[in-house]
Amino acid sequence: MSARPSPRLAGLGAVVAALAACAACAPASSPDAPPIAAVHRHQCGRCHAPPDPGTHTRAQLEEAFSRHKTRVRLSAEEWAAMVDYLASPDGAAALR
Ligand code: HEC
Repeated sequence: MSARPSPRLAGLGAVVAALAACAACAPASSPDAPPIAAVHRHQCGRCHAPPDPGTHTRAQLEEAFSRHKTRVRLSAEEWAAMVDYLASPDGAAALR
């Protein structure tokens, strides 16, 4: 009986870990995503699932972000870009 871990299995573990790590980042990494999309991807999934663009109105986002200034350190420009990026057009998601 050998206690040595098989190199084949160790390699597989690394691949699985890499896939799992990237599963969360793949969908938003399209080449024409705005720069704020990367901030959204990295900062907004730490406490809850990052809200998808178009699922909140501008007013809902501004209301939520007024409680987020101490949670996430973004500049005023980044908060504004975040609202632009996530807000649904013409309040379509107002009745959730
Ligand atoms: C430090 C933890 C934390 C981080 C990081 C965080 N949030 Fe939140 N978020 C919360 C908590 C807690 C709530 C629920 C309470 C509330 O609404 O304030 C929440 C609620 C929300 C809501 C309201 C949800 C709803 O359906 O009404 C939105 C929108 C939101 N977050 C967006 C974001 C975005 C965008 C980011 C990245 C800029 C972000 N959050 C990062 C903790 C966090």
